[in-house]
Amino acid sequence: MADAGFLDHANDILINVYGFWPVQMAKGKGVYLYDTEGHKYLDFGAGIAVNNLGYAHPVYTKALKKQIDKLHMGLCYIADEKRIAAAETILAISEFDQVFFCSTGAEAVEGALKTARKWATETHGADKHEFVYMKNSFHGRTMGALSVIGQQHYRDGFEPLLQGTRMAEFNNLDSVKKLVSAKTAAIILEPVMGEGGIIPATPEFLHGLRALCDEHDIALIFDEVQCGMGRIGEIFAYEHYGLVPDLICLAKGLGAGFPVGAYMGKKKFTSHITPGSHGSTYGGNPLATTAVTTVIKEMLKPGFMDNVNKVGQVLKDGLEEIARDSNLLSNVRGLGMLLAADYNGGPVKDFVKKCLKNGLIVLSCGENAVRIVPPLILTEKQAKEGLAILKKTLAQV
Ligand SMILES: Cc1ncc(COP(=O)(O)O)c(C=O)c1O
Repeated sequence: MADAGFLDHANDILINVYGFWPVQMAKGKGVYLYDTEGHKYLDFGAGIAVNNLGYAHPVYTKALKKQIDKLHMGLCYIADEKRIAAAETILAISEFDQVFFCSTGAEAVEGALKTARKWATETHGADKHEFVYMKNSFHGRTMGALSVIGQQHYRDGFEPLLQGTRMAEFNNLDSVKKLVSAKTAAIILEPVMGEGGIIPATPEFLHGLRALCDEHDIALIFDEVQCGMGRIGEIFAYEHYGLVPDLICLAKGLGAGFPVGAYMGKKKFTSHITPGSHGSTYGGNPLATTAVTTVIKEMLKPGFMDNVNKVGQVLKDGLEEIARDSNLLSNVRGLGMLLAADYNGGPVKDFVKKCLKNGLIVLSCGENAVRIVPPLILTEKQAKEGLAILKKTLAQV
């Protein structure tokens, strides 16, 4: 645990956006983190659904070390072999024609929104510029992303945001239909809502949106920053639902810890982005794209995705069992290794700190839910170890 002096110093010199936890990590190995005093933590948070390969993964670490010795940063005007390899690798496993690499999830969302608006206004005229988004959604902290976030507290203090945005109800097709008009350029949503509480979209809702977008020539944007890259048991969340969006946003698990994001789309949309209309200095640099290719190759190895589904189910079953025995947890939900349950024992943030003390990292989300998003390499044994710590912590509440 970190001492008070360390936390005071951190809060003094770092702009205070996180509310730091009382711990200081020294290293990670596999699915475990170790603090500066040598305490071990089982990580069910994975850097907020990022570290899909865990820590110090031998293949990942070797690839990045090799690349940093060779060429760590290129010039964005030069399409180096690493960027091409990453693009080929990710396009080959998806339904899209083109990809743009950036550095964060919010930047991927910005790119997709800009692409949709440029396509819509160039194809249908300036009036077709509106975005429909979902209540309780989360898309990042930049001004464009904030404009399509359906949780007021994230927007407080930053308004006025983009004009022409309209908020619909998640999983309520009629509410979307009421807001769609000839002015709608795009509908943006998370197929599985993350920060909003781990709420999967219903298949009927997503298929209804797909049909609506086809009927009115609207771009359907899936923000898979949190639910994509294997997290729910398919590489892309849209595969789980059996439909394809027009544009998709990725980050987090895409680089498994190296800061990289991307958006992809069909050429119908992405061809409207031309030199000068978008860009990113670091986006897709050789280290970032080495991370992308390495991560995808690992995920495609036999058994990797089976593990996400199998161990994810062990976690979900275990959470359900705990919820049956304790009234402190309820409403277990989620897919693959993107799971949550409502916490009924007071503020969930206090419970998160209690778990930390007991050697388990979990996260919060939604109104008062515990979120479980471990590295995708978690084994059944480790899943049970974490569930036991969770149970023990609940008993202490
Ligand atoms: C669905 C979703 N979109 C976008 C973002 C923003 O990603 P970043 O923090 O990398 O900008 C997040 C981050 O949590 C997210 O969950």
